[in-house]
Amino acid sequence: MALIAVAGCPGAPGATTAALALAMSWPLVEGRHVIMAECDPDGGSVVAGALRGGTPGPQGLQNLPVAARTGRLNEAFWRQLLDLSDGAKQRLVLPGLTNPGQSPGMQSVWPQLADLMAGIDVTAQHDVIADLGRRGGTDSAASLVLRADLVLAVVRTTLRGVHHAEHRVRALAEDLDARGVGRDALRLLLIPAGPYTAAEISERLSVPVAAELPFDPKAAEVLSDGTDIGERRFKRSDLMRHAANAAETVHSLVLQRREQLAPRPVHQAPDRAAIPGGAHAAR
Ligand SMILES: Nc1ncnc2c1ncn2[C@@H]1O[C@H](COP(=O)(O)OP(=O)(O)OP(=O)(O)O)[C@@H](O)[C@H]1O
Ligand SMILES: [Mg+2]
Repeated sequence: MALIAVAGCPGAPGATTAALALAMSWPLVEGRHVIMAECDPDGGSVVAGALRGGTPGPQGLQNLPVAARTGRLNEAFWRQLLDLSDGAKQRLVLPGLTNPGQSPGMQSVWPQLADLMAGIDVTAQHDVIADLGRRGGTDSAASLVLRADLVLAVVRTTLRGVHHAEHRVRALAEDLDARGVGRDALRLLLIPAGPYTAAEISERLSVPVAAELPFDPKAAEVLSDGTDIGERRFKRSDLMRHAANAAETVHSLVLQRREQLAPRPVHQAPDRAAIPGGAHAAR
């Protein structure tokens, strides 16, 4: 159905945590699947964080440049995915770069990867939630923003949070206006951790709010750092309960936008010859 880009900004507002929480709560309607893709040029943190270093092998984005050069990006992409859903392969993660030094090698890969992820919809029925990190989605990786159905900027509702978000949000909006489908694809995902209301922040940044995730450090650390608070407590946490609502809201928003942006059937005047007696009647 969709490519959803999650943009962070300086100050670690919680983009990776939010992208993971959304992927773990994503509504898997009609047998769909979801992939959380760590497309952060500064490197991924899911393997060392949520997965506690436990992966079956060296899967990750760093393996894609070689595959892309030899025309095997598509098959290599599927081999990099790790299962977050106990063997059901419904919720998958594409681990990010293992260090920022690998980022230059991704320059020509980002646009191809964006095409692949935006097209997965048709070929494999997967939705993709791409974590762009604090500065990703620019330069050659801009295609991740421009091909996305929705771009969510994660913002903490503190003065520092808004201060850092301002530049990032403005740049994303301008890029979407100049080269994409317009700034209407941009929404805020707020983490209320400060004194400002959603309305105040939305007005300040001139971007509507899509959803909120609560400030819940204990549950967030399970996703960002792999801490163990017990499965039951994690699933019932504020963060994960609200993530389910947020995922539903974002999912519906994407469907709504797709409907609005879908090309309308062109209304054609009926072909007179096709109407019984039509062509003759005109004579
Ligand atoms: N909703 C939340 N409530 C409380 N703490 C959170 C929340 N989301 C994230 N955090 C905490 O904030 C810190 C940064 O989170 P995270 O790594 O997800 O941010 P990020 O925006 O991806 O950062 P970076 O730019 O470094 O990639 C972590 O310690 C995490 O536990
Ligand atoms: Mg991150």
